[in-house]
Amino acid sequence: MQNLLITGGSGFIGSNFIQYILRDSGFQGRVVNVDNLTYAGNPENLTGIEDAFHNQYIFIRSDIRDLGAIRDIFQEFDIDAVCHFAAESHVDRSIMEPDAFIQTNIVGTFNLLECARIHQGQITLFHHVSTDEVFGSLGETGFFTEATAYSPNSPYSASKAASDHLVRAYFKTYGLPVTISNCSNNYGPYQFPEKLIPLMILNALEGKPLPVYGDGKNIRDWLYVKDHCIAIWEIMRHGRKGETYNIGGRNEMENIRIVEMICDNLDQMIPPEDRSSRRELITFVKDRPGHDRRYAIDCTKISNELGWTPVETFETGICKTIQWYLDHTEWVERVKTGEYQNWIKKQYG
Ligand code: NAD
Ligand code: TYD
Repeated sequence: MQNLLITGGSGFIGSNFIQYILRDSGFQGRVVNVDNLTYAGNPENLTGIEDAFHNQYIFIRSDIRDLGAIRDIFQEFDIDAVCHFAAESHVDRSIMEPDAFIQTNIVGTFNLLECARIHQGQITLFHHVSTDEVFGSLGETGFFTEATAYSPNSPYSASKAASDHLVRAYFKTYGLPVTISNCSNNYGPYQFPEKLIPLMILNALEGKPLPVYGDGKNIRDWLYVKDHCIAIWEIMRHGRKGETYNIGGRNEMENIRIVEMICDNLDQMIPPEDRSSRRELITFVKDRPGHDRRYAIDCTKISNELGWTPVETFETGICKTIQWYLDHTEWVERVKTGEYQNWIKKQYG
């Protein structure tokens, strides 16, 4: 991998991944980050990277829905490997406005696959980053394995499922060297505060209501974002082509328990002035339509084949995450006020 195209590198997981491979992994090649900077893309997530790695890092504002633009990037930068994060990623938004999910997640992935196919001789790897949500919902027992049938329930998960199928088809039909990862819910630094954990941290700090959907007993299997990045890098270097790998934290948690933990942690760190506990802010609200009840990942395959296991427990990861949001008040402020978007407009028009 000499010229690695990373799509969506300015988002939550993509920016953590770029920080990881450039700062920690010893990767010597070039990273070409292609991101069109939607509301979820924030150049500030990569502060310092351009300066510290000016020989190794290039940012291009471009849209994966634009086949011509992506074709030019493959050509100009001699792309020989791809790690594809770019997506519309929020389930609630997909329920309100599914169109962008179809265009970016399905058509965008198709465009990238086509470009990779055109340059097939020199593409050594196309890694597709996907989600466990493609498998639908579990009952009280059992786990998602790589053999679990796809059964997506939201426009988001359906669009990701479609993209997974396309990637697999390009392996079977054209022999494109692909790998796919299906990961559970991530949390950690730089997550946009529309997702459960950062939303609850910031609302709790401001004394705002903490909206818990339904009865709060839906279960997700939480993974600290850096553990996800390490897993992706392992798959990219040592995974078998044409294979999918499930990635999970072995951290099944009910939503309500997470919100309570966040409240309790914050109460200890910064005792609230106007109430006995931030738990008083918890407000049960109308459930999300099609809300999957439980996700849980069996990550035996990646563990046995590649020796990967998560480093963080939920307890250590959530403490780090809360501390990160407390330490990055300027980032938080610029995201909340939308100031980061003004900066993007000034910079790129
Ligand atoms: P995110 O929403 O934080 O970031 C997405 C990035 O993609 C943003 O920088 C955005 O600007 C960019 N983007 C969106 N549309 C684009 C387009 N048309 N062209 C170019 N760039 C575009 O998402 P995330 O949470 O970092 O997720 C990254 C990937 O990981 C997604 O594919 C998602 O499905 C997958 N995933 C996420 C989770 C999770 O818990 N967040 C779990 C498993 C898998
Ligand atoms: P989210 O972070 O949106 O991730 P996903 O829907 O991809 O799993 O939501 C995680 C869980 O938290 C999910 O069961 C929905 C729930 N949730 C709430 O209860 N309240 C909220 O305000 C949000 C954003 C999510």
